[in-house]
Amino acid sequence: MWSRPHLLGIEGLDASEVGYLLDRAASFLGPMPKTDALHGRVIVNLFFESSTRTRTSFEIAGKKLGADVINVSPSTSSVSKGETLLDTIRNVEAMHADILVLRHASSGAPQFLAKHARSSIVNAGDGTHEHPTQALLDVLTMRKRLGDLKGCIVAICGDILHSRVARSNALLLGLLGANVRLTGPRTMLPREAARLGPTVTIMPTLSDAVEGADVVMMLRIQNERFSGAALPTTREYTKTFGLNTAMLGRAKPNALVMHPGPINRGVEITSAIADGGQSVILDQVAAGVAVRMAVLEAVGRTRGAA
Ligand code: NCD
Repeated sequence: MWSRPHLLGIEGLDASEVGYLLDRAASFLGPMPKTDALHGRVIVNLFFESSTRTRTSFEIAGKKLGADVINVSPSTSSVSKGETLLDTIRNVEAMHADILVLRHASSGAPQFLAKHARSSIVNAGDGTHEHPTQALLDVLTMRKRLGDLKGCIVAICGDILHSRVARSNALLLGLLGANVRLTGPRTMLPREAARLGPTVTIMPTLSDAVEGADVVMMLRIQNERFSGAALPTTREYTKTFGLNTAMLGRAKPNALVMHPGPINRGVEITSAIADGGQSVILDQVAAGVAVRMAVLEAVGRTRGAA
Protein backbone atom coordinates (compact mmCIF):
# COMPACT_ATOMS: atom_id res chain seq x y z
CA MET A 1 0.00 0.00 0.00
CA TRP A 2 1.10 3.59 0.51
CA SER A 3 2.25 5.30 3.69
CA ARG A 4 4.56 8.12 2.56
CA PRO A 5 3.55 11.72 3.20
CA HIS A 6 5.52 12.90 0.14
CA LEU A 7 6.29 11.75 -3.39
CA LEU A 8 9.81 13.05 -4.00
CA GLY A 9 11.08 10.62 -6.64
CA ILE A 10 10.99 7.09 -7.97
CA GLU A 11 14.29 6.34 -6.24
CA GLY A 12 13.60 4.55 -2.98
CA LEU A 13 10.09 3.36 -3.89
CA ASP A 14 9.54 -0.38 -3.86
CA ALA A 15 7.58 -2.55 -6.28
CA SER A 16 4.50 -2.71 -4.05
CA GLU A 17 4.29 1.09 -3.68
CA VAL A 18 4.64 1.54 -7.43
CA GLY A 19 2.11 -1.24 -8.03
CA TYR A 20 -0.35 0.44 -5.71
CA LEU A 21 -0.08 3.83 -7.46
CA LEU A 22 -0.30 2.30 -10.95
CA ASP A 23 -3.33 0.14 -10.12
CA ARG A 24 -5.09 3.05 -8.43
CA ALA A 25 -4.26 5.30 -11.41
CA ALA A 26 -5.58 2.65 -13.83
CA SER A 27 -8.91 2.83 -11.99
CA PHE A 28 -8.99 6.59 -12.67
CA LEU A 29 -8.42 6.30 -16.45
CA GLY A 30 -11.15 7.61 -18.71
CA PRO A 31 -13.68 10.34 -17.98
CA MET A 32 -13.96 10.35 -14.19
CA PRO A 33 -16.78 11.86 -12.18
CA LYS A 34 -15.76 14.16 -9.34
CA THR A 35 -15.18 12.48 -5.97
CA ASP A 36 -14.78 13.99 -2.51
CA ALA A 37 -11.64 12.08 -1.43
CA LEU A 38 -9.79 15.36 -0.80
CA HIS A 39 -12.80 17.51 0.03
CA GLY A 40 -11.78 20.43 2.22
CA ARG A 41 -8.08 20.01 1.42
CA VAL A 42 -6.00 22.75 -0.17
CA ILE A 43 -3.47 21.94 -2.90
CA VAL A 44 -1.01 24.63 -3.97
CA ASN A 45 0.72 24.21 -7.33
CA LEU A 46 4.04 26.03 -7.09
CA PHE A 47 5.61 25.99 -10.53
CA PHE A 48 8.93 27.80 -10.75
CA GLU A 49 9.48 26.50 -14.30
CA SER A 50 7.23 26.55 -17.36
CA SER A 51 4.65 23.84 -17.68
CA THR A 52 1.51 23.12 -19.66
CA ARG A 53 0.67 19.45 -19.22
CA THR A 54 1.98 18.84 -15.72
CA ARG A 55 0.48 21.89 -14.05
CA THR A 56 -2.87 21.57 -15.79
CA SER A 57 -3.19 17.88 -15.03
CA PHE A 58 -2.28 18.34 -11.36
CA GLU A 59 -4.97 21.02 -11.20
CA ILE A 60 -7.58 18.84 -12.90
CA ALA A 61 -6.60 15.86 -10.73
CA GLY A 62 -6.93 17.88 -7.52
CA LYS A 63 -10.31 19.23 -8.58
CA LYS A 64 -11.57 15.76 -9.54
CA LEU A 65 -10.75 14.70 -5.99
CA GLY A 66 -12.76 17.58 -4.58
CA ALA A 67 -9.79 19.63 -3.31
CA ASP A 68 -9.39 23.39 -3.62
CA VAL A 69 -6.48 24.02 -5.99
CA ILE A 70 -4.46 27.23 -6.12
CA ASN A 71 -1.76 27.98 -8.70
CA VAL A 72 1.23 30.16 -7.88
CA SER A 73 3.69 31.18 -10.57
CA PRO A 74 6.96 32.87 -9.61
CA SER A 75 6.83 35.69 -12.13
CA THR A 76 3.77 37.12 -10.37
CA SER A 77 4.71 36.07 -6.81
CA SER A 78 7.07 37.47 -4.19
CA VAL A 79 9.82 35.07 -5.30
CA SER A 80 10.60 37.74 -7.89
CA LYS A 81 11.09 40.14 -4.92
CA GLY A 82 13.84 37.99 -3.41
CA GLU A 83 11.92 35.74 -1.02
CA THR A 84 13.53 32.35 -0.40
CA LEU A 85 11.79 29.12 -1.39
CA LEU A 86 11.52 28.07 2.25
CA ASP A 87 9.91 31.38 3.24
CA THR A 88 7.45 31.05 0.36
CA ILE A 89 6.51 27.55 1.53
CA ARG A 90 6.17 28.66 5.20
CA ASN A 91 3.80 31.41 4.12
CA VAL A 92 1.73 29.07 2.00
CA GLU A 93 1.58 26.61 4.90
CA ALA A 94 0.46 29.40 7.25
CA MET A 95 -2.63 29.54 5.02
CA HIS A 96 -3.19 25.83 5.75
CA ALA A 97 -2.10 24.29 2.48
CA ASP A 98 -2.20 20.49 2.76
CA ILE A 99 -0.31 19.46 -0.37
CA LEU A 100 2.36 21.44 -2.22
CA VAL A 101 3.08 20.40 -5.79
CA LEU A 102 6.50 21.76 -6.65
CA ARG A 103 8.35 22.23 -9.92
CA HIS A 104 11.77 23.80 -9.54
CA ALA A 105 14.96 24.24 -11.56
CA SER A 106 17.14 23.09 -8.65
CA SER A 107 17.71 19.35 -8.37
CA GLY A 108 16.86 18.38 -4.80
CA ALA A 109 14.51 21.30 -4.03
CA PRO A 110 11.55 19.04 -3.07
CA GLN A 111 13.78 16.80 -0.91
CA PHE A 112 15.05 19.89 0.91
CA LEU A 113 11.54 21.23 1.48
CA ALA A 114 10.20 17.90 2.68
CA LYS A 115 12.62 18.12 5.61
CA HIS A 116 11.07 21.41 6.72
CA ALA A 117 7.46 21.16 5.56
CA ARG A 118 4.37 20.32 7.56
CA SER A 119 2.46 19.71 4.33
CA SER A 120 2.91 16.92 1.77
CA ILE A 121 5.37 17.67 -1.01
CA VAL A 122 4.84 16.22 -4.48
CA ASN A 123 7.73 16.58 -6.93
CA ALA A 124 6.51 17.82 -10.32
CA GLY A 125 10.05 17.94 -11.74
CA ASP A 126 13.26 19.10 -10.02
CA GLY A 127 16.07 20.25 -12.30
CA THR A 128 17.80 17.32 -13.97
CA HIS A 129 16.95 14.99 -11.10
CA GLU A 130 13.48 13.38 -11.09
CA HIS A 131 9.97 13.70 -12.48
CA PRO A 132 8.21 10.80 -10.75
CA THR A 133 4.64 11.40 -11.93
CA GLN A 134 5.86 11.58 -15.54
CA ALA A 135 7.53 8.17 -15.24
CA LEU A 136 4.39 6.75 -13.61
CA LEU A 137 2.15 8.06 -16.39
CA ASP A 138 4.56 6.76 -19.03
CA VAL A 139 4.56 3.31 -17.46
CA LEU A 140 0.78 3.36 -17.05
CA THR A 141 0.49 4.13 -20.79
CA MET A 142 2.89 1.29 -21.66
CA ARG A 143 1.17 -1.21 -19.35
CA LYS A 144 -2.22 -0.44 -20.87
CA ARG A 145 -0.93 -1.33 -24.36
CA LEU A 146 1.69 -3.98 -23.63
CA GLY A 147 0.60 -5.58 -20.36
CA ASP A 148 3.40 -6.76 -18.08
CA LEU A 149 6.59 -4.83 -18.90
CA LYS A 150 9.02 -7.52 -17.70
CA GLY A 151 11.52 -8.16 -20.50
CA CYS A 152 10.17 -5.35 -22.70
CA ILE A 153 12.73 -3.18 -24.48
CA VAL A 154 12.29 0.56 -24.01
CA ALA A 155 14.58 2.90 -25.98
CA ILE A 156 14.89 6.40 -24.51
CA CYS A 157 16.55 8.75 -26.97
CA GLY A 158 17.91 12.28 -26.89
CA ASP A 159 19.22 14.56 -24.17
CA ILE A 160 19.49 11.91 -21.46
CA LEU A 161 21.99 13.82 -19.33
CA HIS A 162 19.70 16.75 -18.62
CA SER A 163 16.45 14.80 -18.55
CA ARG A 164 14.65 14.15 -15.28
CA VAL A 165 12.12 12.21 -17.37
CA ALA A 166 14.82 9.77 -18.56
CA ARG A 167 16.16 9.31 -15.02
CA SER A 168 12.79 8.63 -13.41
CA ASN A 169 11.77 6.33 -16.26
CA ALA A 170 15.01 4.34 -16.14
CA LEU A 171 14.56 3.81 -12.39
CA LEU A 172 10.89 2.86 -12.66
CA LEU A 173 11.25 0.63 -15.73
CA GLY A 174 14.17 -1.13 -14.05
CA LEU A 175 12.02 -1.79 -10.99
CA LEU A 176 9.40 -3.39 -13.27
CA GLY A 177 11.95 -5.60 -15.05
CA ALA A 178 12.00 -3.80 -18.41
CA ASN A 179 15.25 -3.40 -20.36
CA VAL A 180 16.12 0.25 -20.89
CA ARG A 181 18.36 1.46 -23.69
CA LEU A 182 19.57 5.03 -23.52
CA THR A 183 21.00 6.85 -26.50
CA GLY A 184 21.89 10.37 -27.55
CA PRO A 185 24.86 12.53 -28.53
CA ARG A 186 27.89 11.65 -26.43
CA THR A 187 27.79 15.03 -24.71
CA MET A 188 24.23 14.32 -23.57
CA LEU A 189 24.76 10.90 -22.03
CA PRO A 190 25.43 10.28 -18.34
CA ARG A 191 28.77 8.67 -17.48
CA GLU A 192 27.31 6.34 -14.91
CA ALA A 193 24.33 4.69 -16.61
CA ALA A 194 24.94 1.58 -14.53
CA ARG A 195 23.90 3.53 -11.43
CA LEU A 196 20.43 3.80 -12.91
CA GLY A 197 20.07 0.03 -12.58
CA PRO A 198 21.24 -3.33 -13.90
CA THR A 199 18.76 -3.34 -16.80
CA VAL A 200 19.96 0.01 -18.19
CA THR A 201 22.43 0.11 -21.08
CA ILE A 202 23.85 2.92 -23.18
CA MET A 203 23.71 2.47 -26.96
CA PRO A 204 26.03 4.35 -29.31
CA THR A 205 23.52 5.06 -32.08
CA LEU A 206 19.79 5.60 -32.46
CA SER A 207 19.45 2.56 -34.71
CA ASP A 208 21.15 0.34 -32.09
CA ALA A 209 18.71 1.61 -29.47
CA VAL A 210 15.59 1.32 -31.64
CA GLU A 211 16.37 -2.13 -33.13
CA GLY A 212 13.68 -4.56 -31.94
CA ALA A 213 12.34 -2.13 -29.29
CA ASP A 214 8.79 -2.36 -27.92
CA VAL A 215 8.75 1.33 -27.04
CA VAL A 216 10.64 4.29 -28.50
CA MET A 217 10.57 7.34 -26.23
CA MET A 218 11.91 10.56 -27.72
CA LEU A 219 13.04 13.51 -25.60
CA ARG A 220 13.39 17.23 -26.16
CA ILE A 221 16.81 18.85 -25.96
CA GLN A 222 16.77 20.67 -22.60
CA ASN A 223 18.33 23.87 -23.93
CA GLU A 224 17.49 25.71 -20.72
CA ARG A 225 19.75 23.41 -18.67
CA PHE A 226 23.12 23.99 -20.35
CA SER A 227 24.96 26.63 -22.28
CA GLY A 228 25.33 25.89 -25.95
CA ALA A 229 28.47 23.84 -26.49
CA ALA A 230 27.00 20.37 -25.88
CA LEU A 231 25.11 20.41 -29.16
CA PRO A 232 26.10 20.32 -32.82
CA THR A 233 23.63 22.08 -35.14
CA THR A 234 19.93 21.26 -34.89
CA ARG A 235 20.11 19.87 -38.44
CA GLU A 236 22.94 17.55 -37.53
CA TYR A 237 21.10 16.47 -34.38
CA THR A 238 17.95 15.64 -36.37
CA LYS A 239 20.01 13.67 -38.88
CA THR A 240 21.68 11.55 -36.20
CA PHE A 241 19.12 11.35 -33.40
CA GLY A 242 15.78 12.37 -34.95
CA LEU A 243 13.09 9.69 -35.26
CA ASN A 244 11.75 9.27 -38.80
CA THR A 245 9.68 6.56 -40.45
CA ALA A 246 12.66 4.58 -41.74
CA MET A 247 14.27 4.54 -38.29
CA LEU A 248 11.03 3.56 -36.57
CA GLY A 249 10.82 0.62 -39.00
CA ARG A 250 13.73 -0.96 -37.09
CA ALA A 251 11.63 -1.27 -33.93
CA LYS A 252 9.10 -4.08 -33.38
CA PRO A 253 6.04 -3.80 -35.64
CA ASN A 254 3.51 -1.60 -33.82
CA ALA A 255 6.11 -0.41 -31.31
CA LEU A 256 4.79 2.48 -29.23
CA VAL A 257 6.14 5.97 -29.86
CA MET A 258 6.20 8.18 -26.78
CA HIS A 259 7.27 11.71 -25.88
CA PRO A 260 6.68 13.58 -22.61
CA GLY A 261 6.10 16.84 -24.48
CA PRO A 262 6.59 19.56 -25.37
CA ILE A 263 7.59 18.09 -28.75
CA ASN A 264 9.79 19.96 -31.16
CA ARG A 265 8.31 18.86 -34.47
CA GLY A 266 10.92 18.19 -37.13
CA VAL A 267 13.75 18.15 -34.57
CA GLU A 268 13.64 14.98 -32.44
CA ILE A 269 10.53 13.57 -34.13
CA THR A 270 8.80 14.03 -37.50
CA SER A 271 5.18 15.18 -37.57
CA ALA A 272 4.26 12.02 -39.50
CA ILE A 273 5.34 9.93 -36.51
CA ALA A 274 4.10 12.25 -33.76
CA ASP A 275 0.62 12.22 -35.33
CA GLY A 276 0.85 8.65 -36.67
CA GLY A 277 -0.82 5.40 -35.66
CA GLN A 278 2.00 4.25 -33.39
CA SER A 279 2.09 7.48 -31.37
CA VAL A 280 0.60 7.34 -27.86
CA ILE A 281 1.69 10.87 -26.96
CA LEU A 282 -1.84 12.05 -26.17
CA ASP A 283 -2.56 8.83 -24.25
CA GLN A 284 0.36 9.82 -22.04
CA VAL A 285 -1.29 13.18 -21.39
CA ALA A 286 -4.58 11.48 -20.51
CA ALA A 287 -2.78 9.06 -18.18
CA GLY A 288 -1.24 12.09 -16.45
CA VAL A 289 -4.52 13.10 -14.86
CA ALA A 290 -5.14 9.56 -13.59
CA VAL A 291 -1.64 9.21 -12.13
CA ARG A 292 -1.81 12.59 -10.42
CA MET A 293 -5.18 11.70 -8.92
CA ALA A 294 -3.68 8.51 -7.51
CA VAL A 295 -0.64 10.36 -6.11
CA LEU A 296 -2.60 13.25 -4.57
CA GLU A 297 -5.09 10.85 -3.01
CA ALA A 298 -2.28 8.64 -1.65
CA VAL A 299 -0.27 11.44 0.00
CA GLY A 300 -3.46 13.21 1.06
CA ARG A 301 -4.60 10.15 3.00
CA THR A 302 -1.40 9.95 5.03
CA ARG A 303 -1.84 13.33 6.66
CA GLY A 304 -4.61 15.27 8.28
CA ALA A 305 -5.02 18.94 7.43
CA ALA A 306 -1.78 20.86 8.00
C1 NCD B 1 9.16 17.40 -19.28
C2 NCD B 1 9.77 18.15 -18.12
O1 NCD B 1 9.34 19.22 -17.76
O2 NCD B 1 10.71 17.59 -17.57
N1 NCD B 1 7.90 17.85 -19.65
C3 NCD B 1 6.81 17.40 -18.97
O3 NCD B 1 6.70 17.47 -17.77
N2 NCD B 1 5.84 16.85 -19.72
C4 NCD B 1 10.09 17.27 -20.43
C5 NCD B 1 10.56 18.50 -21.13
O4 NCD B 1 10.38 19.63 -20.69
O5 NCD B 1 11.17 18.32 -22.19
